[in-house]
Amino acid sequence: MQDTSFAILPDNQHESKKIDYKSIGRLVSYTAVGNNTLEITCENGFVSIIFYRDDIVRIVMNPKNKPSKKTSYAVVMEPENIALSITEHVDEIVVSSNKSVLVIKKEMLKISIYNEDGNPVVEEIENGFGFNENQELICYKKMDHDDHYYGFGEKTSFLDKRGEKMTMWNSDVYAPHNPEIDALYQSIPYFMTIRHGKAHGIFLDNPSKTVFDMKSSTESYTFTAEAGQLDYYVFIGPTPKEVLEQYTTITGKMPIPPKWALGYHQSRYSYKTEQEVRDLVRSFKEKEIPLDAIYLDIHYMDGYRVFSFDGERFPNPQKLIQELKDSGIHVVPIVDPGVKEDPEYSVYQEGVRGNHFCKYLDGTIFHGDVWPGNSAFPDFTSSNVRQWWKDSHKFYTNLGIEGIWNDMNEPAVFNETKTMDLKVVHDNDGDPKTHRELHNMYGFLMGKATYEGMKEQLNGKRPFLLTRAGYAGVQRYASVWTGDNRSFWEHLQMALPMCMNLGVSGVPLCGPDVGGFAHDSNGQLLARWTQFGTFTPYFRNHSELKSVRQEPWSFGDKYEKIIKKYIQERYVWLPYLYTLFQESSVTGLPVMRPLVLEYPNDKHIFNLSDQFMIGCDLIVAPILTPDTYQRVVYLPEGNWINYWTEEMLQGGKHHLVEAPLEVLPIFVKQGAIITQGTVKSSTETKESEMNIHVYPEENKKVTYRHYEDDGKSFAYEDGKFFECKIHATLENNRLEIIIDTENEQYRPDWVNVVITIHGVNSDVELIINGKKHKNIGLLTRNIVQVSVDRTNFVTNS
Ligand code: GLC
Repeated sequence: MQDTSFAILPDNQHESKKIDYKSIGRLVSYTAVGNNTLEITCENGFVSIIFYRDDIVRIVMNPKNKPSKKTSYAVVMEPENIALSITEHVDEIVVSSNKSVLVIKKEMLKISIYNEDGNPVVEEIENGFGFNENQELICYKKMDHDDHYYGFGEKTSFLDKRGEKMTMWNSDVYAPHNPEIDALYQSIPYFMTIRHGKAHGIFLDNPSKTVFDMKSSTESYTFTAEAGQLDYYVFIGPTPKEVLEQYTTITGKMPIPPKWALGYHQSRYSYKTEQEVRDLVRSFKEKEIPLDAIYLDIHYMDGYRVFSFDGERFPNPQKLIQELKDSGIHVVPIVDPGVKEDPEYSVYQEGVRGNHFCKYLDGTIFHGDVWPGNSAFPDFTSSNVRQWWKDSHKFYTNLGIEGIWNDMNEPAVFNETKTMDLKVVHDNDGDPKTHRELHNMYGFLMGKATYEGMKEQLNGKRPFLLTRAGYAGVQRYASVWTGDNRSFWEHLQMALPMCMNLGVSGVPLCGPDVGGFAHDSNGQLLARWTQFGTFTPYFRNHSELKSVRQEPWSFGDKYEKIIKKYIQERYVWLPYLYTLFQESSVTGLPVMRPLVLEYPNDKHIFNLSDQFMIGCDLIVAPILTPDTYQRVVYLPEGNWINYWTEEMLQGGKHHLVEAPLEVLPIFVKQGAIITQGTVKSSTETKESEMNIHVYPEENKKVTYRHYEDDGKSFAYEDGKFFECKIHATLENNRLEIIIDTENEQYRPDWVNVVITIHGVNSDVELIINGKKHKNIGLLTRNIVQVSVDRTNFVTNS
């Protein structure tokens, strides 16, 4: 009855009960411990303040005991040794680092933090922080009129989360995702505030249920944790990029993914037989549509038993996997956490005998219903169990598998609560905690075990892991897809802000199911969605059992042509995307970005949810509604060039641009340099030619760094990569380009380089690496093209 109007029957409308709040109270005493810590005792609890860096402060509040300094698995950083100065005044204590000042009010403890310019970053007003009669821990912070909030991981609705209340509770949500669904599969209790062009961030490290309320008041916001301690980090900024660097210093960065993970992937629930998989590959080859990976959904297994293949449907997986690998395609099987309760099944036997499954306090194993029926769930909070899970992956890696898809790892259970009984007690390596306290960590730890297991077994090759559930720091192990969306235009629209906010939350490799998972897709929707997919960091077409087929050719020639073109386009853009992934592995910056990350002062973009940036020089503005062949695009300051038409558009303005079905509007910033490759059948095909596109700006020297490595191994960590800097200066119709090889410990496959210069006169004087060059063609539309050889690059080393 809750899904009819009965739900709003007046008698059903209960006033929500006011819950009593108690502040942590007055400061009673404090001590400085070591160089970076302050321990405070208050009337109603304890607080520790730990400086991790001059610009990263951790605050832990515990009403009952002295705060534990142990962090969750999300945190990879140890506090640095820094010099603090502590000054006590009558009513406050002032703690200063080189980049921040903390003011601790003694009467009803409140902590405010200021940046080095003396501007407030976070301020506690009125309530400060404390707890309520339900023992929930709450922190109140001042909301500025100009605050805009980003991040929070995987959330529905628009980009700016001001005015939203969001719950962090990993949930399997098959019901259509809409703005009211505030808990999805991932919980990343972290956000960035942008205020007057400056940024700071907060990460609440608590894997129980947490709630961020940026809605109930316009003067303050709160964050609440249901269990554990109130343990949060403040990142001082002051730029949005610095906040991301600070957050990913605490929670880690994504290693460079294997190149094949960035190609086009095809999935379906399910490709059910070896024959079906072979036919699928044949179609891709015949139609010359690039493909890097095929997914095996739950039907590959024997009765949905993980670590098994159905003998009839997949009689020789090793042969199939090898065959596909030979044609440049990887196979990615799904692995769920639920292990079928079956006394004759070796994985279940091992789990029971080895004490690997989640249990109640009295030692009884928790069983829940998932695909295989009644199942037990590994207790990934125990390192022994993770070791068992890691070793179990030899089953896959011995078959030649290099990528795994973790699903249902919230964990999802088919019952009213949708998850494991909260009374289950996790081992947590000798520090037992209930599932209620650790719920949001489950998928993360499954991912950690899976990734680390594969890494150990792949002899130096980079593993690929895709996960549905996760917690802050998930980027260290996995890429994220946004779960069971539907083939709705609204879900295509929603995917943009969702992925942008995942990027702001430290997850660079993410994307939705292209074409929509549930419901029936159609040609136009799939064409527009694939155009968007060309630039989503993770690019996979996936659809549900009962929906119409959604492979690129499913809706006739007209659409197939467009879909193919944009899958091919992905491969053209790969060198550029790959450089951005490498950048992300160092800086934590996302590949796909909201404009606000680059232009935090521009009021037109605070909530701009229907266009995004790739790196700092490209704006992509997909078409997100049916039968639409024009759209408004906002271009920030500077000049922008329409990628397809070469038309120069002035920034700081809205433009109406044409977008017939075969066009995805793309804009390149004047002053940009872009590197592109060629169309190929998969990333396994060698790159034959590098294309450098220069969009010079008069009287300005512009520089771009291009990165490349073998795309497969971790040799880049030992310096085996290729890096060159491309400089371009345009002055008085003379363009000088210098390509400077900074590192060549890895030799790219390509030797020939075609340089295309946009927006110059055809008689422009061209000097490349000190030599005069002749235009080799494309004299139209102010484009000049020349060809050079990599061996002629200047070498710095
Ligand atoms: C879940 C996943 C979906 C998958 C299905 C069957 O719904 O989100 O991607 O296809 O399970 O495994």
